[in-house]
Amino acid sequence: MEQNKKIVLTGDRPTGRLHLGHYIGSLKQRVKMQNSGEFDEINILIADDQALTDNYDNPKKIRENIINLALDYLSVGLDPEKVNICVQSCLPALHSLTFYYTNLVTTARLSRNPTVKAEIKMRGFADEGLPLGFFSYPVSQAADITAFNANIVPVGDDQLPMIEQTREIVEKFNRIYGETLVMPEAVIPKNEAQRRLPGVDGKAKMSKSLGNCIYLSDDSKTVKNQINGKMFTDPMHLKISDPGHTEGNVVFTYLDAFCTNEHFAEYLPEYSNLEEMKEHYRRGGLGDGVCKKFLINILEEILSPIRSRRKKWESDIDTVYDILASGNIKARETTNTTLFKVKNAMKIDYFDYNRCT
Ligand code: TRP
Repeated sequence: MEQNKKIVLTGDRPTGRLHLGHYIGSLKQRVKMQNSGEFDEINILIADDQALTDNYDNPKKIRENIINLALDYLSVGLDPEKVNICVQSCLPALHSLTFYYTNLVTTARLSRNPTVKAEIKMRGFADEGLPLGFFSYPVSQAADITAFNANIVPVGDDQLPMIEQTREIVEKFNRIYGETLVMPEAVIPKNEAQRRLPGVDGKAKMSKSLGNCIYLSDDSKTVKNQINGKMFTDPMHLKISDPGHTEGNVVFTYLDAFCTNEHFAEYLPEYSNLEEMKEHYRRGGLGDGVCKKFLINILEEILSPIRSRRKKWESDIDTVYDILASGNIKARETTNTTLFKVKNAMKIDYFDYNRCT
């Protein structure tokens, strides 16, 4: 179904604190969207039920991280007046929708989802048996997206298979039951380094178990230590005067992701942009210490307002819970309305809205 309104839905699993990879890959873009005034509705879903699909034996972890995630959101400057933050398990319509959509998806199709495939391997489900809940979470994600009538879904590129799956469900539902669901579109950051920020050790991804993250809640000292202690530069760049490589050099990957020309004016005025700095490094004569210092300055500029907002919200946790609770009320209305439309289309609307949802 076509829709004139611009409705955004995105979400995260509450499984841990958010890091710089999350910030540059999605949170920053969410704040920008929020402040652009271009969107009719922005919804952010704390996907606790999805997180339980591979953490069902540790619900305590999910419970704790719901509030951590909310704090991360508020700290980066998401404004509850402008975005609606809500919790998946408080929205029962999502589960009803999931159930109807499972009829429209084959197990063979789900088995081909590359993200799920990789996760199955990583979690060891291939050996110990694959829980049905985990296997079918892309269907539940389709329910999340369609329940909000979202046509814009900002995600990382590992989520593209989920959006593809959702689009197939929407197409099939609308074909069988009549035009009902809104067709979503994924939006991913254009900048490669922003899309896939490696860990400080240069490994493919920031991950808690590798200890290569910079968390949004880290203090200055921790950030400094991570960069000075763990970031490799170019192993061939032994003396400052040696020519250096910027490709595959994590410091420069991070600069690709984070630095702007304004940062040069502020902290490193001998260059006017990153290309000039890179040329100097390649020619030789630019030391790694200077590059790291520049990066630390930039990250501090980004992280310090995030830290002070966090402090403020941490001292007012009750309000954070209230924000989620009112987000849920609003989202319940939206998602129940979609559920009713779906039941309508499927001709299983035996009762009116209030007695049927
Ligand atoms: N699968 C997403 C992740 O792991 C989280 C998520 C759940 C989501 N529901 C969503 C993302 C709906 C976008 C839209 O990050």
